[in-house]
Amino acid sequence: MVNPRLPSVPNTGAISGILEGFSFLGNPAFAKKRFEKHGNIFETSLFGQPMVFVQGSQAISDLLSNPNAIDGWWPRSVQQLLGSHSLANRNGAAHKARRRAVAQLFSASALQDYSPGIIKMVEDLAEELKCATRPIPLAERMRCFAFSVIASSVLGLEGTDRDELFLDFEIWTKALFSIPIALPGSPFAKALKARNRLLMRLQKLLSQSGNFNGGLDLLSRSSDEAGIPLTDEDIVEQLLLLLFAGYETTASALSCLMRELLVNPSVERWLRDELDQLYWPPDPQSSSHAYDQSNAPRLNAVVNEVMRLTPPVGGFFRRTKLPVVIDGILVPENRVVQVALISSNRHGIGDLDTFRPQRHIDNDCPVKLIPFGDGERVCLGKSLAELEIRLMVVGLFRKVRLALTPNQDLSLRQLPSPIPRDGLLVEVDEKYP
Ligand code: HEM
Repeated sequence: MVNPRLPSVPNTGAISGILEGFSFLGNPAFAKKRFEKHGNIFETSLFGQPMVFVQGSQAISDLLSNPNAIDGWWPRSVQQLLGSHSLANRNGAAHKARRRAVAQLFSASALQDYSPGIIKMVEDLAEELKCATRPIPLAERMRCFAFSVIASSVLGLEGTDRDELFLDFEIWTKALFSIPIALPGSPFAKALKARNRLLMRLQKLLSQSGNFNGGLDLLSRSSDEAGIPLTDEDIVEQLLLLLFAGYETTASALSCLMRELLVNPSVERWLRDELDQLYWPPDPQSSSHAYDQSNAPRLNAVVNEVMRLTPPVGGFFRRTKLPVVIDGILVPENRVVQVALISSNRHGIGDLDTFRPQRHIDNDCPVKLIPFGDGERVCLGKSLAELEIRLMVVGLFRKVRLALTPNQDLSLRQLPSPIPRDGLLVEVDEKYP
C-alpha cells in the first residue's frame, strides 16, 4: 500500500506545454536544467501531454522494478506511425506473445548466421572508402549499413525490394518525433503516406514469403497470445518496428562512435593498439562473440562510453497504471513517465561531460548504464546492435585509417537519434591490406 502522504511530484507550472514542447525538441539540456532546479523527478507538459521526467539509478530502478504498476508508452506521433498492432504499442499478454515471436530473430544461433553477411558489408564499405576520390559522408554509410543488416541479414530482403523500402523509410523516420498533425505537406503527412507505401510493400513481400529464408518466414509462422497465427497486418507492423528500431539507433551509435574517435586521436591510438592484436575477419565459428568484452575490453569501453555520452535513444517511457513511489515521491496512476537517459548518464560527480572510455576499464563510472532500456521491454535487438557495432569498428579500422574533412559542422542533431549535422565527412588517410 502506497503512503498517500508522501511528497507529490514537483511541477514546472507549464499548462499548455507549447513553449516546453519546443524547448524539449530544440534544447538537449532541457531536462538537465529542470532536474537542477527540482531534483531527480519533476513534471511538466509537452505540447499538452503531461509528463514526469526521472533521472538517476534509484529513481529509474524504483520505476522499472514495478512491472505490474506500469505499461509501455510512446508519444502519439510514434504510436500512429508504428501502428496499433506493433508490439511497442501493446501491453500484457499481447505484448509478451509478440516479443516471443520477434525474439526468435535474435537468438545466439541467428546472430551467428547473420555474421558472414555483416562482415561482407563491412568489407565492401572498407573497399569503397579505399577507392573514394572525394570525401564520403560516413553517417549516411552507417545508415545504409544498419538498414541493410536488418533488411537483408535479418528479414531476408534483397535488391530493389530493400532499396525501395529504404527510401520510404528515410521519409517515415523524419517524422517519428514530430507534432502529429497531418497538415498537407508537413513531415507528419508525408510520413503517413510513406507508412502506407511501406505497409503495402511489406504486405506484398509477405504474400511471397515462401521465397525467403530470413525472418519473414519465421515471423509468418508465429502466433498470438491465444496461439492463433498472427495476421498479415500484425506481422507487417512488427516488421516496420524492426526496420525502424534496427537502423536509426544503430546508425547513430556507429556515427557517434566514429566521430568521437576522429576528434580524440589519442583514444583512437589507444583503441588501435588493441584492435591490431585481433584477427580480421574473425573465425567463422565464433564470429558473433569474437570481439566481446573478454577479447576486446577497450572496444567494449569505447562502445559503453559512446552509449553513455550520446545515447541513441535519449529517453524511453512508461505509463503508471497504479501509484508508484519514485525516489521517495508519490507518482499517481495514469502518468506518463520519461526515463531521461541523456541527463541521467551525465548526472553525478566527476568528469561526466568528457569522453573517457578508460573509466569503464577502471570501474570508475558512477552511472548505471541502460542504453537499451530495462525490465520487460528491454530492447530486443541489443545483441544484434552490439555485434554490428563491434564488427564494423574492428573491420573498418583494420582496413583504413580515416581523417576528418576540414571545415564541417561536427555538432549533433539530436532527434530522433544523435547524428553529426554535416554527415561526418571523412577521407582515407592510410590503407592497410
Ligand atoms: C544501438 C542500438 C540500439 C539502441 C540504443 C536501442 C535502444 C532501445 C531502447 C532504449 C528501447 C526501449 C526499451 C524500454 O522501453 O525499456 C528499445 C526497444 C526496442 N528495440 Fe532497440 N535499440 C537499438 C537497436 C535495436 C535493434 C538493432 C533492434 C532490432 C532490429 C531493436 C529492436 C527493438 C524493439 C523491437 C524494441 C521494443 C521492445 C518492447 O517494447 O518490448 N533495437 N531499444
